[in-house]
Amino acid sequence: MKLCVIGTGYVGLVGAAIFSDWGNTVFGVDIDEEKIKRIKAGEMPIYEPGLSEIVLKNISEGRLSFTTSIAEGIKEAEIVFICVGTPQSETGAADLSAVWTVAKEIGQNLNGYKVIVTKSTVPVGTNEKVKQIITENLASPVEFDVASNPEFLREGSSVEDMQNTDRTVIGSDSPKALEILTSLYTHLGSPIVATNLRSAEMIKYAANAFLATKITFINEMAQVCEKAGADVTMVAKGMGLDKRIGSAFLRAGIGYGGSCFPKDVSALYRTATDHSYDFKLLRSVIEVNYGQKDLFMFKATRFLGTNLNGKTLAILGLAFKDNTDDIRDSVAVEIVKKLRGLGAQLKVYDPAASDNARKILGDTSITYCSNEYETMEGADALFVLTEWKQFAVLDLAKIKSLLKQPVIFDGRNSFDKDTTEAQGFTYFAIGKRTNGLEKINGAGNNYSATLIKNGSH
Ligand SMILES: NC(=O)c1ccc[n+]([C@@H]2O[C@H](COP(=O)([O-])OP(=O)(O)OC[C@H]3O[C@@H](n4cnc5c(N)ncnc54)[C@H](O)[C@@H]3O)[C@@H](O)[C@H]2O)c1
Repeated sequence: MKLCVIGTGYVGLVGAAIFSDWGNTVFGVDIDEEKIKRIKAGEMPIYEPGLSEIVLKNISEGRLSFTTSIAEGIKEAEIVFICVGTPQSETGAADLSAVWTVAKEIGQNLNGYKVIVTKSTVPVGTNEKVKQIITENLASPVEFDVASNPEFLREGSSVEDMQNTDRTVIGSDSPKALEILTSLYTHLGSPIVATNLRSAEMIKYAANAFLATKITFINEMAQVCEKAGADVTMVAKGMGLDKRIGSAFLRAGIGYGGSCFPKDVSALYRTATDHSYDFKLLRSVIEVNYGQKDLFMFKATRFLGTNLNGKTLAILGLAFKDNTDDIRDSVAVEIVKKLRGLGAQLKVYDPAASDNARKILGDTSITYCSNEYETMEGADALFVLTEWKQFAVLDLAKIKSLLKQPVIFDGRNSFDKDTTEAQGFTYFAIGKRTNGLEKINGAGNNYSATLIKNGSH
């Protein structure tokens, strides 16, 4: 099949690469000239394991090309995928301006029947408006259909996720469009959920909001565990082995971040409000998640003080999750900003995200290190902010020898509490008591409650 993918970001570039690897001829289109230039030169604009090889192979075999022109990209395509960003707007709703711009350009350049598919995460009703915009901009009457095909990949494993998907969701009011899209995915062998436009759009939000709720549940459990003297990691393990629950997304930490969960939960809450429904559960999820990093900061400042002038802190992790260079809405970056704001000098390291973080954070009070141990030399404490697996296997004895004092604030529960404490560390984790520091162990929840009462967020 001939396909066009508009927007070559984390979803679009991976999508274009995988579609071409399946034997389709694919044009990737992006408004960002620099990005297209880099991809054409064989340089990946994002860090994504396994992506480079697939892109290069399919470019060289003639199935994958890139352009900045939508007119050129869609000319011969039977299916056109819209994969542009839909970030959070100031109202909390999704900002759909890039989708509208692309729809208008597709309309102006439509030269024959095509299925126009929105892969971006968009609220209920968006595809109906895409159809309307395309229709209004047609130069001459041309038949086309619209469809929704939300993407469920995770950054860091997206190449694998797109090919081994649990299911494919296709929504359209046109049987012809459903048939064409089904034929693209049928070889995957996984279930295809064919439905109408509105249900497909809603499935994506429901899935992300549910996962964010699951993370938030275990984060609140962590608070109770800490107060009650239980260990949240063991509680999550015991819960997760129940097949009805499952172990994924049950890891307590400093809160979910990234370019999807925060904005999608917020957009779904907003959609519900627009339909006169107060989605109380999601309101709590947003509130609890927001407070999660404050609880972590509360512990750090209770121990280190609120004036961090003259203190040097080692920071491991800047990306919003492991295996990615993406720092959009990264809780790690938020915490770095807070620690710097209190006067600390920071020595930071992330295996993939340092360059992106530097663009946002700059160099003031921050030294970007080239490995984990370099951050720790002479530091007053170590902070672990992203769950990169390589952090969990660091040598605790070496860490202890490098730090000025053996203190770890572990926002991702990377280390084993008993082992770390046995080696003489003061170890702050999530949902586990720190030996001998009862005041800090108990006070976090009250702090959160005060914040909420005072309307601080
Ligand atoms: N990143 C993820 O893990 C993920 C997973 C599932 C779904 N999604 C959804 O997919 C969508 C895209 O996310 P992303 O992370 O790939 O975003 P991204 O910001 O990485 O990529 C978007 C791309 O669209 C391009 N673009 C913007 N306006 C354009 C225009 N007018 N014409 C052509 N290109 C244009 C941008 O230059 C950028 O390269 C979002 O709706 C997101 O919620 C993302």
